[in-house]
Amino acid sequence: MSHPLEWINSELARLEARGRRRWLREFAAEAAADSNRLNFSSNDYLGLARHPAVIEAAVAAAREWGVGATASPHLCGRRPVHAELERRLAKFNGAEAALVFPSGYAANVGAISALVGRGDTVFADRLAHASLLDGARLSGATLRRFRHNDVNHLEEMLRTSPASGRRLVVTESVFSMDGDFAPLAEVARCAAEHGAALYVDEAHALGVYGPGGAGLLAEAGVRGGGVVAIGTLSKALGSQGGLIAGTADLREWLVQSARSLMYSTGLSPIAAAAALAALDVLAREPDRPARLRHLAAQFRRRLRELGVAVADGDCPIVPVILGDDPRAMEAAARLREEGILAVAIRPPTVPEGAARIRFTVTLNLSPEQVETAARRVARLVGPLGV
Ligand SMILES: Cc1ncc(COP(=O)(O)O)c(C=O)c1O
Repeated sequence: MSHPLEWINSELARLEARGRRRWLREFAAEAAADSNRLNFSSNDYLGLARHPAVIEAAVAAAREWGVGATASPHLCGRRPVHAELERRLAKFNGAEAALVFPSGYAANVGAISALVGRGDTVFADRLAHASLLDGARLSGATLRRFRHNDVNHLEEMLRTSPASGRRLVVTESVFSMDGDFAPLAEVARCAAEHGAALYVDEAHALGVYGPGGAGLLAEAGVRGGGVVAIGTLSKALGSQGGLIAGTADLREWLVQSARSLMYSTGLSPIAAAAALAALDVLAREPDRPARLRHLAAQFRRRLRELGVAVADGDCPIVPVILGDDPRAMEAAARLREEGILAVAIRPPTVPEGAARIRFTVTLNLSPEQVETAARRVARLVGPLGV
């Protein structure tokens, strides 16, 4: 008997045939601690998701405020811990104000669609994260995409686009799939010269780069009323949730108009308390970001010494580009069999022909484990033609 959703079956078969089907996998929680199962796929950069003080704060928050926020923040979904977290995040970012969202994805979709609309233009880096592009598309603004990190191309687009309407330049400070950096000072100068606001996703920079882990905008000294920083509590801070940092007016405008904030249950008080505790750990142990970068540099250096083509540097996101999808899937399977959890990333997450294994280095790994992994990666992935 056919039904109106019958097409799903053939679409799934089509994905399967193209090698594009995705799976939800369960990773054992103890994987990070087991020296035979090395987790290179988590964004828990600073090793805070299972930090005792962070867990303790989460448990205490559940006891005090309950598990869920129970409503939108505009109704009764805010607790004192949310306000305290926003104050701390603003200070951490060197911004006037911050606003928390249920996720980084929700922050991007809600904020971009609150800042631009029909008749406006978003200029986004070609490799910008899906949540940034989704925000731009939802907004109804014209979306123009400049070549990755190419400020000349951005400049040309800004020059040749209609001057009417609002303009928003969107980029990431650390690119999530490549582990490279936007030339923020130049992008900021270019945006300012052409009357565009600058919107920077610091999801992979917060806690990793910048003074005290404050991100690359802070490091580049890019500040001011025309700059919006977004981040996530879900990566280096080991919790869950998103944040926007900028002026008090920006925060107030988003409270009025960000639909992903208004029409969604607020960030769980558990996640808020955990993020606060993670910020405390980071303040007490300010060497964590440098230790992480040192470990990432070790992984990259050893891979290079062992003949694997990766860029030099210290970014904990380490892509090994394999080209076509089957090769990336084969590499991930081989790694998994030998205890290395590192996922294959395929189009459309990355451009066609640029399938890869994306390794992430975290402080859950020891230098010895990183050495072991580099050797295994060289042995297993090397023969695949890297
Ligand atoms: C660059 C970037 N922005 C935003 C997000 C979304 O953040 P979250 O996982 O908190 O929704 C991610 C994470 O996937 C990301 O990599």
